[in-house]
Formats: sequence, structure tokens, C-alpha cells
Amino acid sequence: MNRKTDLEGRAEIETLVDVFYERVRDDELLGFIFNDIAQTDWESHLPKMYAFWETVLFRSNSYRGNPLAAHEKLVSKTPMGREQFDRWLELFRGTVDDLFVGEHAEHIKSCADDMANVIYSRINQVPDPRFDPANLTPEQRERYTRYKSDPGE
Ligand code: HEM
Repeated sequence: MNRKTDLEGRAEIETLVDVFYERVRDDELLGFIFNDIAQTDWESHLPKMYAFWETVLFRSNSYRGNPLAAHEKLVSKTPMGREQFDRWLELFRGTVDDLFVGEHAEHIKSCADDMANVIYSRINQVPDPRFDPANLTPEQRERYTRYKSDPGE
């Protein structure tokens, strides 16, 4: 029987990334963003993503890049909304679960959730929920109103 194991290192990261992007390329909502809009060069994108996830999971420090800028560039060219990010996460989580099980598998899914939320909010200029007026305490609200009405102080 072929039992699933955890993501132990670079080899499993490569498998995860390869299978995930095979699915992304074939996806009707996301595929064209890579294939047509960004015209992704897979021979350089895949190794970049191995390094990215290896750095996130195992602190290999092998990734150099700017994920925010890469996605910001896409916003004016194609929808990059909640629907796209939710599909991305569904494919990512599904791929992890199909191939691996364990602590690292759980961790990589929650890192992906967090990063998807950060990238989504930053590129769409959705306010950080921590600073949403609805979530402020009365003291914070009072303080922020004062800053706004009296910027010179
Ligand atoms: C709607 C969801 C997303 C779409 C459509 C998308 C699409 C893209 C595209 C087109 C690129 C550029 C590839 C190229 O060089 O041609 C890219 C790069 C990248 N993406 Fe995403 N992405 C999404 C979500 C995410 C999320 C949630 C993460 C992280 C968990 C992520 C991590 C990265 C990284 C690390 C790069 C490489 C940036 C660099 O250093 O150049 N992406 N993405």
C-alpha cells in the first residue's frame, strides 16, 4: 500500500509544486493568467517556487524575489479578486491533501492561507481588518479621530 507521508524536504516540495502548477495551468479560472497574461516561463517559475516554499517551510533562505510586486502587476490586466484567490487556495490545499499528510502539510496550507490573504488585501487595497473602524475599541476610535481632525499636532 502506498501510504502518504509528510513533506520532508526539497524533493517533496518539488513534487507538490509540479503537481500544483499542472492543475493551475489546466484551470479555467487561473490557467490563462499564467499562460496568456503573464506568459509564464515555467522553466524559471517552477524553480523559483521550489525555493519560495523551501524557504517558507525549511528556512533554506534560497528564495529571492518580491511576491507582492509580481501580483500587483497583474491587477490592471486581469481580475485578481477573492474568487481567484479562493480557487488558488482550493487547488493548493487539494494538492497538498492528495499527496501528503502530517505537520508540515498542515503548516504549508496555513502559510498559503495567510499569504493569499495578505497578497489579496494589498494588491486590491482592501483595508487590513485590524484597522477597520468596526473593529476598533472606543479609545482607539477617539484617538484616530483626533489624528485626522488635527494632523498638525
Ligand atoms: C489568484 C491567485 C494567484 C495568481 C493568479 C497568481 C499568479 C502569479 C503569476 C502570473 C506569477 C508570475 C509568474 C511569472 O513569472 O510569469 C506569480 C508569481 C508568484 N506567485 Fe502567484 N498567484 C496567485 C497567488 C499566489 C499566492 C497565494 C502565493 C503565495 C502563497 C503566490 C506566490 C507567488 C510567488 C512567490 C511568485 C514569484 C514572485 C517572484 O519572485 O517573481 N501566488 N503568481
